[in-house]
Amino acid sequence: MSTATDTIVLTGGSAGIGAAIAARSRADGRRVINLSRRPCRADGVINVAVDLADAAAVAEAIVRVRELIGARGRVHLIHNAAFPIADAVSEFDARACEQAMRLNVVTPAELTAGLLPTMAPGSSVIFIGSTLSEKGVPGRLSYCASKHALVGLMRATVQDLFGTGIHAVCVCPGFVDTPLLDPLRARGPEVMQQVLGMVSYGRLLTPEEVADIVAFTLDRPALNGAIIHANLGQRES
Ligand SMILES: NC(=O)c1ccc[n+]([C@@H]2O[C@H](COP(=O)([O-])OP(=O)(O)OC[C@H]3O[C@@H](n4cnc5c(N)ncnc54)[C@H](OP(=O)(O)O)[C@@H]3O)[C@@H](O)[C@H]2O)c1
Repeated sequence: MSTATDTIVLTGGSAGIGAAIAARSRADGRRVINLSRRPCRADGVINVAVDLADAAAVAEAIVRVRELIGARGRVHLIHNAAFPIADAVSEFDARACEQAMRLNVVTPAELTAGLLPTMAPGSSVIFIGSTLSEKGVPGRLSYCASKHALVGLMRATVQDLFGTGIHAVCVCPGFVDTPLLDPLRARGPEVMQQVLGMVSYGRLLTPEEVADIVAFTLDRPALNGAIIHANLGQRES
């Protein structure tokens, strides 16, 4: 179903899941525009260097991406970049929380609003949430809040885009083998063993597995409003 005329606009394509989404999208014959501070190295990706936590820079990037997209067409906007801030309510830092909310929630909303005029029927808005979009864990206050907020953003986007032929989905990965897990790895092998003990298959997801799920959502309007968990099955008790 994908064609070379489709454009993927992806945030956070320089590493981890985003890099895998970019590579998969290119292999599927799609044009890819990546927004992150470092470039995405996948062949043929158009990079727009931007700090997505900086409101002024995001506004400039929207203008640039609209120029790059050109004529209105099928655009798949994938909100993937995030910062995994680790904080607890007992040590709450409002400024750090605001920074996380800006990058993880406000910027996705702003990008959707800014790029909407370029998005024809058949386009999609894909949010990368997390297991923590629907559950809480200690020491991740702002991250949990921001990932829960993404589900709200997806659901409200579905309502606002009713009848436009543009669908929205939230893909919620479990533990994925990316640099985002480095702080966990740094805590030693016992901590990683505990993590793997929570996963039915006893392993981390690969970024490519998540990219495969994301690729599946792009041309599937039947998924409009869906929350898709991709976590290999996690222990609930
Ligand atoms: N890995 C996991 O276990 C896991 C689990 C659940 C959900 N997720 C979600 O999956 C998504 C991708 O995570 P990942 O594991 O691939 O993370 P990652 O390997 O740490 O990559 C994060 C990406 O976000 C970009 N980014 C971060 N801050 C940015 C900023 N201020 N401006 C622009 N880009 C920024 C980074 O680009 P630059 O540094 O080049 O700017 C990088 O490309 C995130 O939404 C994360 O919450 C991951």
